[in-house]
Amino acid sequence: MATTLTAEKPEHADAIERVLARAFGPGRYAKTSERVRERGAVLEHALTRVALSDSGDVVGVCRIWRVEAGAPLYFLGPLAVDPVEQSAGLGLALVREAVAACRASDGNGVILVGAERYFRPVGFSVVPAGKVILPGPVDPARLLWLQLRPGGLDKVQGELLAPKS
Ligand SMILES: CC(C)(COP(=O)(O)OP(=O)(O)OC[C@H]1O[C@@H](n2cnc3c(N)ncnc32)[C@H](O)[C@@H]1OP(=O)(O)O)[C@@H](O)C(=O)NCCC(=O)NCCS
Repeated sequence: MATTLTAEKPEHADAIERVLARAFGPGRYAKTSERVRERGAVLEHALTRVALSDSGDVVGVCRIWRVEAGAPLYFLGPLAVDPVEQSAGLGLALVREAVAACRASDGNGVILVGAERYFRPVGFSVVPAGKVILPGPVDPARLLWLQLRPGGLDKVQGELLAPKS
């Protein structure tokens, strides 16, 4: 199937929810990442990437949020691909395009909670222990970040919060 990656538009919202429900199943709202998002992280529609099927259905999403941890930062997630479209490279393609959009917007860095093995090819690595605090339990080996420009992560430290501006 041919897929197109594009920025999120308001009309994609319901279809994105359906993809998230199919990909994650119940329990999605219990994640610490959800606490970050509900505490005032700002959804960046223009940096978020959705995958559209050739009939225009949303089959994947990689959302990007504006947050702060000592310095402005982007928070990546949720990342989800419809189960019938998985294992075809769509997940990593969405991550690569969302990260490229963050880089083009002059961001400092991107942080996420996920499997290092999966995100390593895009350049993510484990955040040094204790450097960034999330509003809930997170396996430190799954807290990953990626620098977008030289020195971009130097001032990043402390609680992951809503952006100040
Ligand atoms: C994770 C997810 C987005 C990957 O999408 P995808 O389009 O299948 O990804 P790709 O095709 O780029 O890569 C597939 C490979 O990623 C690997 N992979 C998938 N999930 C992984 C994970 N949690 N940890 C490590 N590797 C993983 C698998 O090895 C898979 O290889 P396979 O095809 O041999 O099984 C998709 O599986 C999904 O929606 N899962 C449910 C939601 C979820 O867990 N999101 C990630 C939160 S960090």
